[in-house]
This record gives sequence, structure tokens and C-alpha cells, in this order.
Amino acid sequence: MQIDNRNFFPNILNDKKYKIGIEVGTYEGEFSKQILNNWDGILYSLDVWDKLSDEYVDSSNKSSVETIYKVIDNINGFEDRSVLIRTSSEYGSKMFPDEYFDFVYIDANHKYEYVKNDFDNSLKILNKFGIIILHDTDPMNKILLDEKYCNDAYKIVDYISKNKELNIITLPIQETGLSLVMRKKDRRINSFL
Ligand SMILES: C[S@@+](CC[C@H](N)C(=O)[O-])C[C@H]1O[C@@H](n2cnc3c(N)ncnc32)[C@H](O)[C@@H]1O
Repeated sequence: MQIDNRNFFPNILNDKKYKIGIEVGTYEGEFSKQILNNWDGILYSLDVWDKLSDEYVDSSNKSSVETIYKVIDNINGFEDRSVLIRTSSEYGSKMFPDEYFDFVYIDANHKYEYVKNDFDNSLKILNKFGIIILHDTDPMNKILLDEKYCNDAYKIVDYISKNKELNIITLPIQETGLSLVMRKKDRRINSFL
């Protein structure tokens, strides 16, 4: 398996036989499409698809019917296992029972407070043996720390590292990097030792 961009991720989903996951922050649905194309589980794609307050400085922060059309186009053909949820990550995470998802992919507001909130909420809805993936946690240069790009999402790595119950690995791939998180007790080896 080549790990030089985030497209390796559906391979993990297949390998672990994951059946249900959610992308928090979907924008035009390009990555949702990538996941659906390479994995046969049920994917929830969540986004506000609306303009948030001006405090949220991001090129995707716009109210645009065109964006919604692009999402619809991107999930075309996957209607039997693709679910769109138009709400904030805060509300969205409360719509599901605990331990509902095999994976949660976090890529919404990159300001640290929001990433932390999305992460904490994701832990509650994450299944045993599940995985959380956070995008934009290891940008390759200072320009990418701008609010428009990765902002201070990188701070989540230290926050998670301090939690003794979690394993985190941060991969310096593509321009912005990503992190994979699992509960230590969910390591495969713990199921038979
Ligand atoms: C960087 S884009 C997502 C890109 C997408 N994951 C991809 O790889 O193609 C961030 C998205 O998060 C959404 N977003 C930001 N804050 C959010 C929140 N609090 N709740 C839900 N969606 C949010 C924005 O509307 C935007 O579409």
C-alpha cells in the first residue's frame, strides 16, 4: 500500500472490513466520492453547506447552491450507500448513538477549538476498533498555517498525544499532513492476548 497521499485511506477501510463511516466537512464531496469509489460501506457526508460567520476564514465558507450541485454530482451512483447531512458538526455528532461509526474523518473548521470539539464528539460515536482521521495536522510550510488553509489544527496532535488512552500517528503526506487515531485498548493484539 502506497502512503503518499490520503487516497490510501479507503484501503484501510477495506482491510479492516469497516462498514459505516462519516466525513465531517464535505465541501464539494470530492473526497466522499474518492472513498465511495474505493470502499463499499455506507458513508455519511456532513456539512453546513452554508456561509458560517465571518470569523470562519476559509475559501469554502460561502453559501452556494453550486456547491450542493457538485456534491450531488460527486455522489451520483452511490445513492444506496451515501447519506448527506446538512447541519453543523456540533449538532450532527449528537444525531447518532454512541459507538455508531467505524471511522470518522474530520475536515471541517480548522481552528483548534473546533477541531478539538469535533474530535471529542467523534470519540463518543466511534465504534470499538474504530479509527479517527484528522486532515491538515502537519502542514509543510508556514503559509499553510494561514486561517484560510490549515489554521492551527496542528495543535490537536499535542492534545491527543497527552491522552494516555489513545494512539496517534501523524503522517507528513501531501502539503497538509494527516493524523490517524485509535484507542490503545482497541489494538488488534488486545483481542487475543
Ligand atoms: C476543507 S472543506 C472540506 C473538504 C473535504 N473534506 C474534501 O476533502 O474535499 C471544510 C468544509 O467544512 C465545512 N464546515 C466548517 N465548519 C463546519 C461545522 N462547524 N460544521 C459542519 N461543517 C463545517 C465547510 O462548510 C466546508 O465545506
